Amino acid sequence: MPATDAATVDYFDRHCHEYGRNRIRGVAKVLRPLVGPQARLVDVGAGTGSNLARLSKALGVRDITALDASSETIARVGSRLPHARTECVSILEPQQLRHLAGTFDVVLMAAVLHHLVGSTRAGSQRLAQEGLRNAASLAKPGGIVVVLEPVFSPRGAWIRGLDPSGALFWLKRAVTSVTSERVPVLGYWNNIGAPVVSFYSHAQVSSMVVSAGLTPVHRDVRRQSLGWADAVIERGDATYVARTRKVA
Ligand SMILES: C[S@@+](CC[C@H](N)C(=O)[O-])C[C@H]1O[C@@H](n2cnc3c(N)ncnc32)[C@H](O)[C@@H]1O
Repeated sequence: MPATDAATVDYFDRHCHEYGRNRIRGVAKVLRPLVGPQARLVDVGAGTGSNLARLSKALGVRDITALDASSETIARVGSRLPHARTECVSILEPQQLRHLAGTFDVVLMAAVLHHLVGSTRAGSQRLAQEGLRNAASLAKPGGIVVVLEPVFSPRGAWIRGLDPSGALFWLKRAVTSVTSERVPVLGYWNNIGAPVVSFYSHAQVSSMVVSAGLTPVHRDVRRQSLGWADAVIERGDATYVARTRKVA
């Protein structure tokens, strides 16, 4: 059975959102002293291509590649960035990635880990780990891997033993068994419908980065308000910049 979730790919074939530009500004600031204009940059799960457009412009880099499991997404990036190489591949299918292994100076993976979902929460976590390891394999020895990921942690002693991200995963699994549409609750971004997502805490993503054989050089979590839900859950936008091992 393929590891790539067909329902997630179908969702991104039909919906493609443009996210805020602030996330990339911070990344560009960290990368500028480390990356020259000849660098090869790849965006794994490129979405609209906005991150690739902004980061390559900020770093003065021309050699850019967009990878995504959604063919519609890849077609949109192709029209937006005609000089970019584009490939419709899944980061969970290593045989599709072999020809790209070890060829990039910078690998960007933004808001993708929580979309690598399996039939259970533990299975999803294994896929996220595998996806990150596969993404890291695209970098040259000593290359840079940037992971941007929304992170969630229960707030307060009474809820700490609970797993709100797990509850959301199972709720979405149940709702998406009856509809493939988005089901917004209290506004568009609070959604219990498609796609199923498996969110992680800062500690969990940090540990995935290290388990992928990467050495972190920068970590940062910017707190984001969830409004009424702030009382029970803490949300942050996390940035991890890490290096792959150099060959001895
Ligand atoms: C939330 S969007 C993020 C898009 C972009 N990185 C950004 O931050 O704006 C998640 C993206 O991951 C892609 N994706 C989901 N599963 C994938 C997989 N197995 N391999 C590659 N891309 C995948 C989706 O098609 C979608 O474009």
